[in-house]
Amino acid sequence: MAEYRLELRGVSKSFPGVKALDNVQLALRPGTVHALMGENGAGKSTLMKCLFGIYKMDAGEIYIDGEKVNIFNPDEAMEKGIAMVHQELQPVPARSVAENLYLGRFPMKKIGPIQMIDHKKMYEDTAMWLKEVRMNFDPKALLGTLSIGQMQSVEIAKAVSHQAKVVIFDEPTSSLSDNEVEALFRIMNDLRDKGVAMIYISHKMDEIKRISDDITIMRDGTYVGTWRTEELTTDDIITKMVGRELTNVYPEKKGKIGDVVMEVKNYSSIHEKSFQDVSFSIRKGEILGFGGLVGAQRTELMEGIFGIRNVASGEVIINGKNVKIKHPIQAMRAGIGLITEDRRGNGIFGCLSIKDNVGVSVYNKLLKLKFVLDHKKINGIVDDSIKKLRIKTPSMKQHIANLSGGNQQKVIIARWLANDPDILIMDEPTRGIDVGAKHEIYEIMNELAAQGKAIIMISSEMPELIGMSDRICVMCDGKLRGVISDKAEMTQEKIMAYATQF
Ligand SMILES: Nc1ncnc2c1ncn2[C@@H]1O[C@H](COP(=O)(O)OP(=O)(O)OP(=O)(O)O)[C@@H](O)[C@H]1O
Ligand SMILES: [Mg+2]
Repeated sequence: MAEYRLELRGVSKSFPGVKALDNVQLALRPGTVHALMGENGAGKSTLMKCLFGIYKMDAGEIYIDGEKVNIFNPDEAMEKGIAMVHQELQPVPARSVAENLYLGRFPMKKIGPIQMIDHKKMYEDTAMWLKEVRMNFDPKALLGTLSIGQMQSVEIAKAVSHQAKVVIFDEPTSSLSDNEVEALFRIMNDLRDKGVAMIYISHKMDEIKRISDDITIMRDGTYVGTWRTEELTTDDIITKMVGRELTNVYPEKKGKIGDVVMEVKNYSSIHEKSFQDVSFSIRKGEILGFGGLVGAQRTELMEGIFGIRNVASGEVIINGKNVKIKHPIQAMRAGIGLITEDRRGNGIFGCLSIKDNVGVSVYNKLLKLKFVLDHKKINGIVDDSIKKLRIKTPSMKQHIANLSGGNQQKVIIARWLANDPDILIMDEPTRGIDVGAKHEIYEIMNELAAQGKAIIMISSEMPELIGMSDRICVMCDGKLRGVISDKAEMTQEKIMAYATQF
């Protein structure tokens, strides 16, 4: 048997103005999980898309079990035993689980001269494949009714049903709850026992250390090296990824905390199961963390405050004045900004440039003679944010859809920074963002706080909550269960205790 299940040699790929991959290699041992790591824009997704036949590589070779193969499209990739669980899932929500699983290859039966879809077989087989991946939901359920974690299980069941030898996971856990992550890891362990080789892309260091056997690191489209996971410490990985040492991930916060700028009183959703009777306040210069498990209704609460969701009762008081917010425009006028959690879903204008994606929030403020856009000023602001957030792009004219996942997120953050709100709500600000850029975002948060802005940060990452917050509010089941004000009391245990207090 060949030493490697899959080998990529000398892969190069350019886009206009960008050399995304330059002579990159990757070798997967059978029955292992191979982590592929690198900063945002390092070329990880591009390499996977070349392997899966979505992009045509400019140069390079692919070997499966020692044999050289050509892959020109995803169908060929699947035929050759490669499956991919995408960074952006693309399911058909209005169709059943089974139909999604068998899309494009429905089992057929013949009744007389007529070919028909064999629904019975399709549902039975789907049930069997779901069982393979330890899931037991109804094959007839509409995909749109499932959680993101469950949808992912369907994608994995699909991979398993193709008898894949190689499965690619591109940031599969970025929106999963802890339980769903555990379920995914169980499935991955099963696949490992069956000799499947897996490629695992994630920015979550603890997951990488837990699940992977080997690690390949990329930097700026080039190959840095491959190691056994146990040979590298977390610090080693970071240094190799960013090419410099990164000592203090959470920068020190300077500046004073001032007067109360916003008070939220007895805020309740019109939905019983959503946020209820939440009260808190935030001061100028303060970073207020919001912790809790997935489903604690933190996002919903902030959307309520921002005027996206209907609120049954409660008050928002800004600088001592009662404000009515029924629409995001009113929230923005009141000085509130919201960086949403699902930036890909509701944040980006895919067919517009970076400049327009950042500028859209400030165009009404930057007019010359009241009606001509002041491009000089706008270019200055956009240029500044590209530098500050280290957005990897050949120019501000690039379409945002062509940026890597993490860089798209940075553009959305830049948009809100340009808008300069007094109260900035950031929902999972560093999700999908690499360690180096995380540090930049933390520094920007501290800088904004030092200027007297108030920042609300929802985060599911405990170290981030603890490292960045002046105070931490913890929610569970729609209610605010506790506020931790004392730095010494900010521990994972204490946060978890409130987060599970149903
Ligand atoms: N279709 C495209 N057109 C132009 N440039 C592209 C295209 N796809 C990717 N790029 C560029 O190629 C580089 C590598 O992007 P890629 O998506 O592979 O990064 P990544 O390592 O997956 O990053 P992330 O961690 O943010 O997902 C980036 O500079 C990106 O802007
Ligand atoms: Mg990517």
